[in-house]
Amino acid sequence: MNDPASTLLWRVAFDVPERAIAAYEAAFGPFALTVTSYSLEGDRWTRGEARWRLEFLVPTMPDLAAIERTIAAVADQLGISVGDVAVAPLTEQDWVAAGLAQQPATHISRFVVRGPHERGVAHPGKIAIEIEAGLAFGTGRHETTSGCLSAIARLYRRRRFRHALDLGTGSGVLAIAIARLGRTPVTAVEIDPVAVRVARANVRANGVTSLVAVAGGGFAPARGRRAYDLIVANILLTPLRRMAHRLAERLAPDGRLILAGILVDEEAALIAAYRAQGLALDGRIQRGAWPTLVFRRGSRGGRRAA
Ligand SMILES: C[S@@+](CC[C@H](N)C(=O)[O-])C[C@H]1O[C@@H](n2cnc3c(N)ncnc32)[C@H](O)[C@@H]1O
Repeated sequence: MNDPASTLLWRVAFDVPERAIAAYEAAFGPFALTVTSYSLEGDRWTRGEARWRLEFLVPTMPDLAAIERTIAAVADQLGISVGDVAVAPLTEQDWVAAGLAQQPATHISRFVVRGPHERGVAHPGKIAIEIEAGLAFGTGRHETTSGCLSAIARLYRRRRFRHALDLGTGSGVLAIAIARLGRTPVTAVEIDPVAVRVARANVRANGVTSLVAVAGGGFAPARGRRAYDLIVANILLTPLRRMAHRLAERLAPDGRLILAGILVDEEAALIAAYRAQGLALDGRIQRGAWPTLVFRRGSRGGRRAA
């Protein structure tokens, strides 16, 4: 282990019930360089709640007593118990290990998103998606990606889709999930040329080249099909608002549009932009501070779980 005094980064990790994630992110966010959370396979708290691991990185040796006081205060407020707190220096080797390739598999609804190092590990009843994220966004661990994966799984429980568009595919994770889950053809669009290469490699590694076409460049009005009955776009508020008209235009009459990449306080603005295009909110999933919204055509404003 490195000399603690010269260690630049420390990792603090503990397990919490799923509903406590947002409160802990809010409590530790201001002090941490990064805060991540992911679900732990099959692990449940006594009342059946999903068990999540929360990890954050801090730049100096953490004050363990202060951290434990904060954890206890939030736990008291929520009436929950949390797991033991692990604090460890991040050595140079750990830093590589903390890289995307070595992250534990992430379980989201019917999907398990994992790196190539976990190839060969069986996950009965689940759809394993192998992602080598490299420099592209989309390991499944970000709340926006996991919200989209959950929304996709829930929609497919009710129906099938004929052709999907994944706008801002990043690592290709959502396109691959759709192709693997429903054997649905997907057009995956990405403006970042590096991500295009990464997404194409991941599509090959997951054996879905006949279903997923990765196209470079933005979402041009003339590109591809006239209509998609499933569109997913995990980008950011500003481009999502700017593209509201074009995306609504491309949504088939019976289609569903999944949007993510926004924070809770940006949600109203996004809903207003898509309502103005004749779409209605049809479902909502929230992970941490990140809502995932599902829209359908129609003016009835009724909402139900995605
Ligand atoms: C937050 S990442 C989402 C990646 C992946 N879909 C996921 O859910 O994990 C957003 C991706 O959208 C891409 N992007 C941003 N604006 C875009 C646009 N106008 N057209 C296509 N891709 C875009 C970015 O380069 C980035 O890879």
